[in-house]
Amino acid sequence: MIRVAIDGPAGVGKSSTSKALAKYYGFAYLDTGAMYRACAWWCLKQGIDLDAEQVDERVVTEAVGEFFTGDHFDISVDPDAPAVSADGEDISEAIRSSEVSTHVSKVSNIIPVRNVLIAAQRAYIAREADKESFSGGLGIVAEGRDITTVVAPDAEVRVLLTAREEVRQARRTGQAAGGVGAEDVAVRDRMDSRVTNFTTAADGVVTVDNSDMDFAHTLDTLIGLVDEAI
Ligand code: C5P
Repeated sequence: MIRVAIDGPAGVGKSSTSKALAKYYGFAYLDTGAMYRACAWWCLKQGIDLDAEQVDERVVTEAVGEFFTGDHFDISVDPDAPAVSADGEDISEAIRSSEVSTHVSKVSNIIPVRNVLIAAQRAYIAREADKESFSGGLGIVAEGRDITTVVAPDAEVRVLLTAREEVRQARRTGQAAGGVGAEDVAVRDRMDSRVTNFTTAADGVVTVDNSDMDFAHTLDTLIGLVDEAI
């Protein structure tokens, strides 16, 4: 059983490479950013004011707790069909809107919210890593901001995927042309780095800077790291 933890800032290409890596090995794929995005989407839907100077942390935490414990939230960890839903409605696209992207850090900065999500993520990783998965592979690729350090510091493979800011901004702007919400990645990174460290690799975490790598090269590099661990 192999657990692969991948952290990194916005716009580095974590999701596409992690998904491809999971497919390559037939592992499950957990997009933890999608979980935070789903929480922000849910809060906005409940009419919670995430633009307030002082976001009401108690109200957000309660809403997120209800989202998870009330069985509203669901996520598919199939790398061929990753999807997030709320009350059976597929919200995979809605959570990529610029509205969600610009508000998600307000939610993920709240420590009690993080604790709910971290516990849920650990449970997914423990369950999925141990069951024969989509093409018979035994393992999971989980990506986010605190997977290598907090959620799964004991993962067999731990990677910090990074790239220069101007490269990441250009990638995100390119995605925006394809329908993904446009945004300033630096603003989100600044907010996110208050509660997570994805700029320097923790002990035992391998840094992969893909500023000058294309997608195939990045994927090959990650495959090399996983092969070493198998
Ligand atoms: O990975 P993605 O850019 O979709 O993540 C969306 C947001 O979710 C991040 O900007 C961050 O606020 C939050 N996040 C987090 N911890 C993680 C994954 C994502 O705080 N492990």
